[in-house]
Amino acid sequence: MTLSAAAVVLLVSSARAAAQPSPSSTDASLELDCDEQADVCDLIRQIYDKTVVLENELLDFWLRYGPDEEKGGFYGEIDENGVGNEESPKFLQQQTRHLWSLSATYTMRAERREEVANVTLQLMQFIYDSFWDDDANFFSYKVSADGERVLDASEKVYSNAFAIYGFSAFAMAFANRFPDHAKDARKRSMQVYRTLRSRFVDEANGGYIDTLSPGYKGHNTLLHLLEAFTSLYLLTGDEDVLDSLDELFAIHLDHVIVGDYCLDLMNMDWTPADNRDASYGHGIETVWLLLDSARAVNRTYSGLVEALTQVGEHHSREGYDAERGGFYTSFQIASPTQKDTSKVWWVQAEALLGIWAMYEETGDIEYLRRLLGMVEWIETYQRVDKPGLHEWWVATGETGSPPGFKTLSFEWKSSYHTVRALLFLNAWISKSGVVGPTTT
Ligand SMILES: *[C@@H]1O[C@H](CO)[C@@H](O)[C@H](O)[C@H]1NC(C)=O
Ligand SMILES: *[C@@H]1O[C@H](CO)[C@@H](O)[C@H](O)[C@H]1NC(C)=O
Repeated sequence: MTLSAAAVVLLVSSARAAAQPSPSSTDASLELDCDEQADVCDLIRQIYDKTVVLENELLDFWLRYGPDEEKGGFYGEIDENGVGNEESPKFLQQQTRHLWSLSATYTMRAERREEVANVTLQLMQFIYDSFWDDDANFFSYKVSADGERVLDASEKVYSNAFAIYGFSAFAMAFANRFPDHAKDARKRSMQVYRTLRSRFVDEANGGYIDTLSPGYKGHNTLLHLLEAFTSLYLLTGDEDVLDSLDELFAIHLDHVIVGDYCLDLMNMDWTPADNRDASYGHGIETVWLLLDSARAVNRTYSGLVEALTQVGEHHSREGYDAERGGFYTSFQIASPTQKDTSKVWWVQAEALLGIWAMYEETGDIEYLRRLLGMVEWIETYQRVDKPGLHEWWVATGETGSPPGFKTLSFEWKSSYHTVRALLFLNAWISKSGVVGPTTT
């Protein structure tokens, strides 16, 4: 089933730039009376007791082991003992994802602020000095550990989306503390946006040239562009950015979301490519991210909530492992009971937010039971079980069998999925009024 074109209704357009590093809206409509709903409140408290611990552990890990104090930026690779590889190259989406996490941490957490501010500023400058290509008005892809040499100058749309996300979050978070740097970061994120629009738009079909999946339109890239443009719009209030954001919502509604799942790949003209599997991870991420983003920019898109709720209902029933907790990777479209049951770190992170968003949409306590099952799975199996090293394993088997691959950070794994999931989840739970805020 393809949903009808997104009719866009503008609710509020004049208000500018809310000072948030990211969409983290969740309306306050969730009103719980804990005398009436003791079981709900009890579940939420059980979840929160654990997620507060998870959040603190993650921040401790990344602040302690992430920064490469000698060469700058964050280590390109960190092993299972927290040791950074001094020779490992550094990658654009990896460094800018850290930039986003730190900027959001600075905004959302009150303690250790000066330390976080210093690390973030150092990282932002390293990224700019090492990756920025002044002729292309775009960021390069890969640099040497010391940032002195560009090792791969290719222009990647996906990775530059994270540059927009990170630099715009920095600009919002540090407007007061580092006003000049914040202004630069804002300028940089708009430059990348303009480059995307002038050189990577598919003029014939709409959307973007996808350098991550050449010859196709990939949902992965579209989703992260939507995330980035939301942040950029919150920073700038720019009307062109809002138009581009509207287009990405329409693309999701018209082409990406198909009934109760999302297509990973489309052909250039938006017809479905030959997709064998559908990703539970991207599906559940889409659910919360689009709900949250639309709310953050005050827009409603006709059919959006219904479409996302359908995906969320399906994925959190079929993607969730009801026996052990945790979230599966994907299923075969032609034969949906055939699932890839491995448990991948970022899918666990996105499922935390997706399941909570579904609880808010429906008020169904079953989502809270699943959320508790997710959190218990993560603390028992996904999380590294060594003191001080509590990042999450890349992937475990269905039953929690230990991972073969133990590197804790590399080109595709940084702090953003895990840190964002816990920062947002705890902030959202706090808004329910059932528990106190993590910090002031
Ligand atoms: C942060 O940087 C400033 C300026 O370089 C320095 O004076 C301060 O001691 C640093 N603070 C922390 C906690 O690292
Ligand atoms: C959305 O609306 C709220 C409430 O009217 C306002 O505070 C906020 O600034 C608006 N945000 C944007 C991005 O327009």
